[in-house]
Amino acid sequence: MGMKTYVVGNWKLNFNVGESSIYLHKLQKSLPNYRDVEVVVAPSMLALQPLSLQIDRHKMKLAAQNAFYRDYGAFTGETSFAQLRGIVDYCIIGHSERRHIFGEDDKMVGKKVEAALRNKITPILCIGETESERSFGETADVVRDQLLSGLRDVAEEEIDKVLIAYEPVWAISTTGHSKLASPDEVAEVVKLIRKTLSELYGEKVAEATSVLFGGSVNPSNAGAYLTVPGVNGLLMGGSSLILSEFADIIDIAKRVKS
Ligand code: PGA
Repeated sequence: MGMKTYVVGNWKLNFNVGESSIYLHKLQKSLPNYRDVEVVVAPSMLALQPLSLQIDRHKMKLAAQNAFYRDYGAFTGETSFAQLRGIVDYCIIGHSERRHIFGEDDKMVGKKVEAALRNKITPILCIGETESERSFGETADVVRDQLLSGLRDVAEEEIDKVLIAYEPVWAISTTGHSKLASPDEVAEVVKLIRKTLSELYGEKVAEATSVLFGGSVNPSNAGAYLTVPGVNGLLMGGSSLILSEFADIIDIAKRVKS
């Protein structure tokens, strides 16, 4: 299949504008132009605009970490997808930290996915179960529900502009747990995601949709996750903050791809 492999770095609340710019400069300098690996970085909101002037879009793309679903109005403190249009190509939506720290529910996540598409920004829709949901055997239901509500307003002709990221909350490095998802566990949930996509849009579309994995990805496990059947890329936090690790993972993605 000619699908791209995605390597997405979520910087979360790290790096000021100057640090972001230096990082981007160094990464861009060292990075060849990989056509089949799509490299994406998600800096803080404040750094997006200056970085959009600095970035070489042939080599990598910018993502926002979040945005609000209304285009303008009395929404103090928010930034809209409409304002980000032309600045970013992607936006992470429904990250577990947005859901669990900032109380975003499935309904809001669905509205954000719709707003991103309306503004020509590719949503990276994050879904994943918590540790207790997994221990109660609820993983399949949780992932299915999050997917159904996240894609509620996505028509068949738009689904090829959506990326899905499976991120089990218990495997994210900053949750305080040191558990890693095994490739088999990832494979099982990714299969389920594609099954749900197939119910919604048909089998062909389900196969063509890009599904990423995230959760404590680093240079020593990236290769294993990238070879899980059905996984088309990686979303990482911690490892993307260390330039050499992020560059290594991009390189691994390139090698796995060829
Ligand atoms: P991590 O974060 O790679 O540090 O586990 C992943 C994420 O939160 O997207």
